[in-house]
Amino acid sequence: MTAHITTDRLALRPWEDSDVDFVYDLYSRWVVQRFIGAEPAVMASRSEAVDRVERFMALDHPVHGIWAVTGKEDGLPVGTLLLKPIPASGEEPLEPSSDVEIGWHFHPDHWGKGFASEAAAAVLEHAFASGLAQVVAVTNPANAASQSVCRRIGMEHQGRTKKYYNAECELFVIGAP
Ligand SMILES: CC(C)(COP(=O)(O)OP(=O)(O)OC[C@H]1O[C@@H](n2cnc3c(N)ncnc32)[C@H](O)[C@@H]1OP(=O)(O)O)[C@@H](O)C(=O)NCCC(=O)NCCS
Repeated sequence: MTAHITTDRLALRPWEDSDVDFVYDLYSRWVVQRFIGAEPAVMASRSEAVDRVERFMALDHPVHGIWAVTGKEDGLPVGTLLLKPIPASGEEPLEPSSDVEIGWHFHPDHWGKGFASEAAAAVLEHAFASGLAQVVAVTNPANAASQSVCRRIGMEHQGRTKKYYNAECELFVIGAP
């Protein structure tokens, strides 16, 4: 069961069928997708959003999760926060490695308010309270906003790596306190 997590302004909950339109709006935007994956591409149809929400809901785990980040007051989704095994580079389809990654995708209407950092800090706290020893994050080298989030939540830059996602990424790491 995906954990429910709350912060000052946000509530992180499992995705629901009623979130499909938000997921389509989020992932059909180039500004959101441009730094994601080895070959970035926008979501092209609502049916892809239906599949994506199903995949998000399928990760049903006590510690790992793919959360809908919502406003604590209005319950409306503003983005995605994930904590899950990171795919190792290799033959497609990529297999998960033994490292756990944290990641974030927010709707541009909600950028610049510190939501990504607030949600990510709470997920890191949940990860370490649940016994994880280390969490990694990778970003496209050009993704300055995401690298700022990594630094704001206390992650340490370790340089570039090709270990994950068949892509050259900036690697950030944080160990349990
Ligand atoms: C990465 C992302 C979640 C950041 O969202 P956000 O709402 O701006 O995040 P926050 O407000 O919590 O913090 C952003 C930090 O990045 C900085 N920032 C924001 N946009 C920036 C930009 N274009 N260039 C440089 N820094 C930027 C902010 O100033 C802040 O840093 P600070 O603490 O030093 O002031 C958002 O840009 C996003 O969803 N992007 C698309 C998806 C994506 O690329 N995800 C990451 C994949 S690795």
